[in-house]
Amino acid sequence: MAAKDLSELDGLSAAELFAGADGLAYDDFLILPGHIDFHHQEVDLSTRVSRNIALKLPFVSSPMDTVTEHKMAIRLACLGGLGVIHYNNSIEEQAEEVRKVKRFENGFITDPVVLGPQATVADVDRIKARYGFSGIPVTEDGKPRGKVIGILTNRDIEFEPDRHRPVHEVMTRELVTGPAGLSLSDANDLLRRSKKGKLPLVDDAGRLVSLVSRRDLLKNRDYPDAVKDERKQLRVGAAVSTRDEDRERVTALVEGGVDLIVVDAAQGDSIYELRVLEWIKATHPQVDVMAGNVVTRAQCRRLIDAGADGLRIGMGPGSICTTQGTMAVGRAQATAVWSCSRVAAERGIPLLADGGISQIGHIGKALALGGSAVMMGYMFAGTEEAPGEYFYDNGVRVKRYRGMASLEAMEAGGDKRYETRADDRKVKVAQGVSGSVLDKGPLDDYVPYLIQGLRQSLQDMGVRSLAALHEARIDGQLRFERRSLAAQVEGGVHGLHSYQESALGMRRKGHR
Ligand code: IMP
Repeated sequence: MAAKDLSELDGLSAAELFAGADGLAYDDFLILPGHIDFHHQEVDLSTRVSRNIALKLPFVSSPMDTVTEHKMAIRLACLGGLGVIHYNNSIEEQAEEVRKVKRFENGFITDPVVLGPQATVADVDRIKARYGFSGIPVTEDGKPRGKVIGILTNRDIEFEPDRHRPVHEVMTRELVTGPAGLSLSDANDLLRRSKKGKLPLVDDAGRLVSLVSRRDLLKNRDYPDAVKDERKQLRVGAAVSTRDEDRERVTALVEGGVDLIVVDAAQGDSIYELRVLEWIKATHPQVDVMAGNVVTRAQCRRLIDAGADGLRIGMGPGSICTTQGTMAVGRAQATAVWSCSRVAAERGIPLLADGGISQIGHIGKALALGGSAVMMGYMFAGTEEAPGEYFYDNGVRVKRYRGMASLEAMEAGGDKRYETRADDRKVKVAQGVSGSVLDKGPLDDYVPYLIQGLRQSLQDMGVRSLAALHEARIDGQLRFERRSLAAQVEGGVHGLHSYQESALGMRRKGHR
């Protein structure tokens, strides 16, 4: 940004934009364009989500049971962002989700489906119908880390008339295996030479460690922006509640290798949260802790003083959220992000703008107001990596997306975010809804679309990086303007007799 004399500039500084009494939403304002003297591919989106965790992209997925489990966290980290595993599950299940992310190696299936020797051919049929593959390792005890005793291929079972036959009678026993620790290219070579469909990698005792698949050979892409720890494992976050009983959960997650603990409370400025925050920082000082949710400066200060390494901002803007209507408490999201960003900038703590993002422009605005990254539920729900199966609603392919305080999710255990004590559970007051969202396809296609959109947005603002964006806001060079209701109508499509718009804003392969 070249101009220095602020009186020469159109529009308002961020401070002036928010000087009025009203709370503003992202749609209430626009950012004025700057000067472009660079290509959008040059825009650097790298950032920090917390004190010690750097990301290549400012995208974090919400800890919700219809958004983030290991598949979401793996792919998002591969692409440069971060997933936060939800806690609507047992401690063991959540820790296992974390371990699956930490174990992931691109190109290796570290979590293969296996069968025991007593399983039947009908079990293979079921796996084939569900996952669409065969080539299933058979382990001595039927466990994923068991000793490999054979492999089941299509040829072993194709013409088998008795579907009740145990697999050990039909499986292939002559195995080609590779040693654990083999590089992907060596594993691929071995697979090619052996002419097999799958190559199990085993440890010294013959126990299964991972699997390489011929079908995946061509699909393996490189992820140069993958977000990894010093041991070259993908980074992952996990959420916990403020309840005392979740201390055990924290410890299990830390043992599983979690990088970021997100203390998850709808109203994060409580003695319960401060206590758990202090406890985590004292007990596991090596792990970063994200605290929240909060929306005022006083709340931010208290959490930073208690040791927060990052702040999560938002109360009520979520697409599935009814908190503001039910609780009478909350804050318009743009105002919340701006207000909290002043404390965050002063104290050097990254700020995560959480909720209310339903289009790429909202991401650009959240970051322009001081967000270091954005947390998104709606935007990632409906992708292939989100938990749950697709189904058709009036001919449209959709997936479920639900608030963690919807009655449905609370009944499945998600009430911990909204109630601070276990005995609060007798009467439930929902603060969210349950619904469905459009199929957004695989993250490998969807995230590049978000990246390109965001880079072009920053290019239009005339800034080459998120760091430059924050600087421009702080020194008043980044200019904003309020949007009247008429301006909002003008800024949308209007006046046409009819028009087509892809509901996602992108063309999906095979979709119109
Ligand atoms: P979205 O990206 O607009 O869909 O908002 C997602 C965010 O909403 C999450 O990251 C949570 O902060 C918040 N959230 C999740 N479940 C609920 C709920 O049931 N009620 C209110 N807020 C929720």
